[in-house]
Amino acid sequence: MSRDKCNVVVLISGSGTNLQALIDGAAAADADFNVCAVISNKAEAYGLTRARDAGINTVAVSHRDFADRESFDRALIEEIDRHQPGLVVLAGFMRILTPEFVRHYSGRLLNIHPSLLPKYQGLHTHQRALDAGDREHGATVHFVTEELDGGPAIIQARIPVEPGDSADTLAARVQIQEHFIYPMAVSWFARGRLRMLDDRVELDGEPLPRSGYTVTG
Ligand code: GAR
Repeated sequence: MSRDKCNVVVLISGSGTNLQALIDGAAAADADFNVCAVISNKAEAYGLTRARDAGINTVAVSHRDFADRESFDRALIEEIDRHQPGLVVLAGFMRILTPEFVRHYSGRLLNIHPSLLPKYQGLHTHQRALDAGDREHGATVHFVTEELDGGPAIIQARIPVEPGDSADTLAARVQIQEHFIYPMAVSWFARGRLRMLDDRVELDGEPLPRSGYTVTG
């Protein structure tokens, strides 16, 4: 582990394919970030196995062991801060965070969401895009603010919805894009190229459009 690299703590709840993309990105010769710990609210999350296989510290902190959201989030903060991360990354972490948690990591907390935000905050995004007859769908990497799935966008990957797509086929194609744009955004942050300014994002000192930097798949 190089001292110059940005230490990243990743929070997961499930399979961890985005985590894997970040682990692979961190293993690249010119990588500027290091995944120093992975924390899950579910002990059985397969992402923890991925992390252990890569030699990364893992911790499971079950939300069920805490009386309320506030005490769970305080325990999470304690676990995360032991690693003194430069960046905290939510990669399929399916818990709503308290304002206290979000404020604690303001400007250094990223999330990925499987829709073209501000469309389809919350769950079932692929089915909702199909039901609406959308011709385009995708994923968004954004800074996290107190609004659920609502912080300023960094990168959006856009893909066409194909005739005959189901929620599963769409999800699979969106995930391919997720695995490309998340390491890209983390790398930008690690190099000091990204900054959150209120409700906007600056890349290399220039404001990005509201939808962030666009990648087409
Ligand atoms: C990803 O598709 C991510 O966009 C989504 O969970 C999935 C996790 O997959 N996140 C959200 O819906 C957050 N609101 P993974 O565990 O294979 O990375």
